[in-house]
Amino acid sequence: MTRTFFVNGKFVPEAKAVIPVTAHALHYGTGVFEGIRAYYSEKDKCFFAFRLEDHFKRMKQSAKIVFIDIPYTVDEMCGFVVELLQRNFTETDMYVRPLAFKSDPAVGNFKLPTLQDSIIMYNVPMGKYLDSEKGVRLGISSWRRVSDNAIPPRGKITGAYINTCLTKTEAQLNGYDDALVLDDRGHVVESSSSNIFMIKDGVVITPPVSDDTLVGITRDTVIKLCTKELGLQAIERSIDRSEIYSADEAFLTGTAAEVTPIAEIDHRPLGESREVGTKLKDLFYKLVHGELEKYSDWVTKVNPK
Ligand SMILES: Cc1ncc(COP(=O)(O)O)c(C=O)c1O
Repeated sequence: MTRTFFVNGKFVPEAKAVIPVTAHALHYGTGVFEGIRAYYSEKDKCFFAFRLEDHFKRMKQSAKIVFIDIPYTVDEMCGFVVELLQRNFTETDMYVRPLAFKSDPAVGNFKLPTLQDSIIMYNVPMGKYLDSEKGVRLGISSWRRVSDNAIPPRGKITGAYINTCLTKTEAQLNGYDDALVLDDRGHVVESSSSNIFMIKDGVVITPPVSDDTLVGITRDTVIKLCTKELGLQAIERSIDRSEIYSADEAFLTGTAAEVTPIAEIDHRPLGESREVGTKLKDLFYKLVHGELEKYSDWVTKVNPK
């Protein structure tokens, strides 16, 4: 089956979705992107795309930081995703990748507002990204997280993902599943591409967004599920490296990672408990498959055409 891509307002066959090798974004990382999951429901024979609107609101904010003009409203972009999924309908979980970037020729111009912008979207099948049954083994990275005054992690800026690549590569070459990344002050920020939560004495703790985390959409979902569904207190505060070693429980959250327990950090097994993470994983699974009526605003139903 020929896949359809969205390119600057048109739906085109994959082979036509090409950019010139001179494109600014290819040379300097001048793009912003999103990662969105659309879950296939065996029960309802449709996709449920998760928090589409929030992904595109975040994309607009990322674009603003680097002077990328996205000529569509959030609603229009949600509509493009629906059409894309309909055109490429297959009975499997999907990952949608919108990307807006500087498409002008690269050499000699770093003045962002003067450069031409492009936007594309496509989807690929995606199953599990991390082992959410066994849990993941993390190692503290020797690399530090990019900071707000260098390359703002608040924006999903393509160039910043060299930080993700360096941290993940180092972790995997050292035998871990993923990295745990600290900021310049030594506080725990997140893994290479997922937010982190720890549970201590019944309280749910996650670093604040001012600690250079990405403002994760799954993070927000989990905070709400913790407080509204599990009746737990969720606090946003800085976490020290040594503090997380003694967490009763900890897990990663993200579009790709979903809710994945952390088994150990730097060869130190975390507490035996998986209680909160398991409850959250179950709730999250139901929610993203359109099975929690109360959260139906967070899922967009996409039926085959
Ligand atoms: C660096 C980073 N942190 C955290 C996340 C998790 O964010 P979200 O839940 O919005 O996918 C992602 C993925 O988007 C990421 O790239």
